[in-house]
Parts: sequence; C-alpha cells; structure tokens
Amino acid sequence: MTASRVVELDAFGGPEVLKVVHRIVPPPAEGEVQLRQTAIGFNFIDIYQRQGVYPLPLPTGLGFEAAGVVEAVGAGVTDHAVGDRVAYMNAGVGAYCERCNVPAAKLVTLPDGVSDDMAAALLFKGMTAQYLVRRTHRVAPGDVLLVHSAAGGVGQILTRWATTLGAVVYGTTGSPDKRAAALAAGCREVLDLNDPNWPENFAAAAGGKARVVYDAVGKDTLLRSLDCAAPFGLVVSYGAASGKSPAIDPELLNKKGCLFLTRPSVFPHNADPATFRANAADLFDAIAQGHVQVDIGARFALDDIADAHRAAEARRVTGALLIVP
Ligand SMILES: NC(=O)c1ccc[n+]([C@@H]2O[C@H](COP(=O)([O-])OP(=O)(O)OC[C@H]3O[C@@H](n4cnc5c(N)ncnc54)[C@H](OP(=O)(O)O)[C@@H]3O)[C@@H](O)[C@H]2O)c1
Repeated sequence: MTASRVVELDAFGGPEVLKVVHRIVPPPAEGEVQLRQTAIGFNFIDIYQRQGVYPLPLPTGLGFEAAGVVEAVGAGVTDHAVGDRVAYMNAGVGAYCERCNVPAAKLVTLPDGVSDDMAAALLFKGMTAQYLVRRTHRVAPGDVLLVHSAAGGVGQILTRWATTLGAVVYGTTGSPDKRAAALAAGCREVLDLNDPNWPENFAAAAGGKARVVYDAVGKDTLLRSLDCAAPFGLVVSYGAASGKSPAIDPELLNKKGCLFLTRPSVFPHNADPATFRANAADLFDAIAQGHVQVDIGARFALDDIADAHRAAEARRVTGALLIVP
C-alpha cells in the first residue's frame, strides 16, 4: 500500500470545493499499472465538471490526463514495465493526484522527444486537435479556417497544426494581450472578440468566409460563428467555455448557407486502445516534425489547485496550464 495526495470534491461549485486529501492507493489490480505522476494536465472540461455542468457522481476526483513513471504492474500486464515513461488522457476522472492505478490499455509510452511536462500539457489537447484536423474536417492546403480562442490550449495546437497542413488560419482572442501568442501559433490575423463587429472584421480580413469555423467558446460566439462560414461550410462546436451553446434550429443552417454543424468529442474518437495509440502516434509524429508544440503558460502545485482553476476561469492563462504533483 502506498499513499497519495488526491484532489477531491464532495459538492459542485467554485474553485473552493477542490480539497487536497490523503488516500491509500492499493496495489494495481489485474490489467492495471501504478503510476508515480510527474506532471498533470489541466483542461477546461475540469471546470465544467467541478461546476456540475457535466455532473459526476459525488464525491469525485477530477482531471483527465497526466504523465508519469510506472512503479508497479498488475497481473496480465505485458505492454508496460516498471520504469516506463507513460501518459494517459482517457482513463476516467481522477488525474489530479500524486499516485494512481490506471488500466494499461489507456496508456501510451512516451517517445524520447516528448518530455513528461510536454505530454501532460498536450496529450488531451493534442488528441483533440488531431481529430479536429484529421477527421472532423480533413484540413487541406488553402482551407480558410476560423479558430476561436486561438491563444488557448487547444487553440494554439490546432492553429499550428492546421497551418503546417497548409490552411490559412484566422483566430480570435478575448483580449489583446493574447494576440501575440495567436500570431506566433500561425494565425494570419487575429480578431478581438470584444469588438462586436468581429464577424465582419473576420470577413474583411479574410476577403470572404471560412471553410470551417472551430468554436469552443459557445454561448458568446456560436450564433455569430454561423455568419463566418462559407456556403456549405462546417461549424464545429467543440466546447462552451463562455456557457452553454444556444439551441440551433436546423432551418437557420439553411438560411446561413446550407451549413453543416457538428458537436464532436475527443473520447469517442479514442475509445478503443488501438485507435487511441494510432492517434497518439500521429500526434507524436506531428511533434517530431515540429507541427505541434506546446506553450506552457502557467504552472501550479497540486496543493494550489484552486488557484489554478481561478486563473483559468479568469482567462488569465495563455497556452497550457500544468499542475505539478
Ligand atoms: N470536444 C472536445 O473533444 C474537446 C476536447 C478538449 C477541449 N475542448 C474544449 O476546448 C476549449 C479549450 O479548452 P482548453 O482546455 O484548451 O482551454 P483554454 O483554451 O486554455 O481556455 C479556454 C479559453 O476559452 C476562452 N473563453 C471564452 N469565453 C470564456 C469565458 N467566459 N470564461 C473562460 N474562458 C473563456 C478563453 O480564451 P480567450 O480569452 O482568448 O477568449 C480561454 O482561454 C474548451 O471549451 C474545452 O471545453 C473540447
């Protein structure tokens, strides 16, 4: 038996509901490995779950991704050994901890070129960008794309990857401070969402509309995102950082130009272990080629998890936020 600091909540609410407690971690069961975590990823979905917007049975842990070192393997585990550097992003909630047991099928081995910090900061976000550029829409040279929150975690990765695939990416940010980061990620131009004319500003900058609009802001932007897509274009609603997206009447899609609207998620895209590992290999290859990088914008100790959530909710973080166990 070994002990671990673990973040738990027994009520939904603000960052103050996040408590650091001590828990015993049993030896890994059959098919599991025990990890000593070295870096934990923060994702915006953690906030939705803490708030109860995506309710979890209480009490609960939180967090979807981390990197670490295998310290013990359970019966039947053949593909991982003690000392391996691994990461996960799709093993249920509970990644906000020092040590834990994880099903071996949910782990990927980290190649030498991917540090633990890098993996924790970008596996979930990178796998999101992976399906967004490969499957939701297969990004092709010359595609004009509009990416909201282009200076954010997923936003920077998506922008950089799409740009290296030959797309012309326009971005939005919620503050002028983030403009430089969005430009550095590859945006041709960055629109300020505080200007109510941002859709018109986008059309003027791009000289037309977008083949695809990637929108994870939701409530504040989704209806106007429909105005930014070219006829027969695609609007991808993959998150709702500003609040629940409005209901959209299919007739509106007709009126706006026979648009396609989709609401995808990273989990079904990586549900089976073989697909997950193939997608991760694609992501690691993109990292090796320099198509994907991660900008770690902030680090917080596990004990300061409430402050980490406060910073993310206040939109103070540019790039990815990392939690240090
Ligand atoms: N569907 C999926 O598979 C999937 C997977 C991963 C993430 N996501 C979604 O992708 C988005 C980005 O995730 P992330 O973890 O990389 O987070 P993030 O981009 O680092 O942070 C969210 C960003 O949303 C923007 N935002 C707009 N309105 C906001 C508000 N009222 N409060 C807070 N932020 C607001 C902020 O950028 P500005 O200030 O520049 O506007 C903020 O930086 C989230 O909506 C998340 O849920 C979806």
